[in-house]
Amino acid sequence: MKKRVLVSGGAGYIGSHVTVELIQAGFDVVVADNLSNCDLTCFEGVKKITGRDDIPFEKIDCCDYESVNRLFSEFRIDAVIHFAAFKAVGESVAEPLKYYRNNLLSFLNILEASRLHGGCNVLFSSSATVYGETDKLPVTEESPRQPATSPYGNTKQMCEDILSDTVKATAAYGSEVMAGLDKTGPVKGIALRYFNPIGAHPSALIGELPRGVPNNLVPYITQTAIGKRECLSIFGNDYPTPDGTCLRDYIDVVDLAKAHVAAVSRMVENKMEDSYEIFNVGTGRPVSVLELVNTFERVNNLRLNYRFAPRREGDITAIWADPTRAEKVLGWKAQRTIEETLASAWAWEKHLAGK
Ligand code: UFG
Repeated sequence: MKKRVLVSGGAGYIGSHVTVELIQAGFDVVVADNLSNCDLTCFEGVKKITGRDDIPFEKIDCCDYESVNRLFSEFRIDAVIHFAAFKAVGESVAEPLKYYRNNLLSFLNILEASRLHGGCNVLFSSSATVYGETDKLPVTEESPRQPATSPYGNTKQMCEDILSDTVKATAAYGSEVMAGLDKTGPVKGIALRYFNPIGAHPSALIGELPRGVPNNLVPYITQTAIGKRECLSIFGNDYPTPDGTCLRDYIDVVDLAKAHVAAVSRMVENKMEDSYEIFNVGTGRPVSVLELVNTFERVNNLRLNYRFAPRREGDITAIWADPTRAEKVLGWKAQRTIEETLASAWAWEKHLAGK
């Protein structure tokens, strides 16, 4: 029987790419999304790419326990991938309660329902932000987490801890000792720590759809190239890096989506060595902001209007992944080149503009 995955936040940027890869890998998927930060554009794209018109879509808010509980009653769910969360660092500083309420409550509800419906495998969408600023690069999963510098980052750390504590506490469920508790079951967990996801599906039918002015680099680049923004500001060219701009590990969103398929497969096939595991999802290659901009220009054969601007508050100088564990344990490795990824980001922007 096909395994079924609940993808919360499945209509969003990463969620839609993951839904495609799951379906193509033979999973059934239920998408849950409250559409608070996206519309149905990407979900429609997912249906086109997969040729599947029957993917269940549930417009629910995971902060409402009864809705989550109903989903778990209606569908037999073998794994949950939890994306449903707010993600703008700056906004989280201005509106911390909004971030804590939404990001924590939705995850608590997913875990509660998982535990009470016979147990479940839960994949949490975490971030390299948990590592903060460090001199020891690249970072491995053992690198210490630093105190979070924003409420957003704090919710990622807290959700990792909530998952790990829940896994520990529910480990005995379903065993003889706890047999009286009938429908409760163990939760197993994986946290994937994403570096900087960028790019779009090669079909150009799904991609990133930022609302308002983009916070992140690549959508700002593509919107500048298409003429929606006048000029890209490169925040800081006086960092202690080879060209003075920040270094990041840009991971292609389709590669990232495939890491989810590998992780979910490991969970549903009962191959986990520990009931809670963490993996970095990155390429292992640092790329500077300027390098990324220049590569975008070269690959897409255009000139981008950009200028150097002061540093952005809160930015760290450099971070990139040691992705060895994901390769060894999950058998996953980033495949697409930065050139392919930046071409896909541009193709998506042009698709949005109807060009
Ligand atoms: N940048 C610019 N100009 C822009 C936007 C970004 O120069 O208009 C630079 C940033 O200064 C940074 C790099 O591009 O050096 C990447 O910036 P992004 O905003 O795209 O990504 P971040 O590395 O800041 O953010 C990522 C994740 C967040 C996470 C954060 C933690 O997107 O979810 O890392 O550091 F919280």
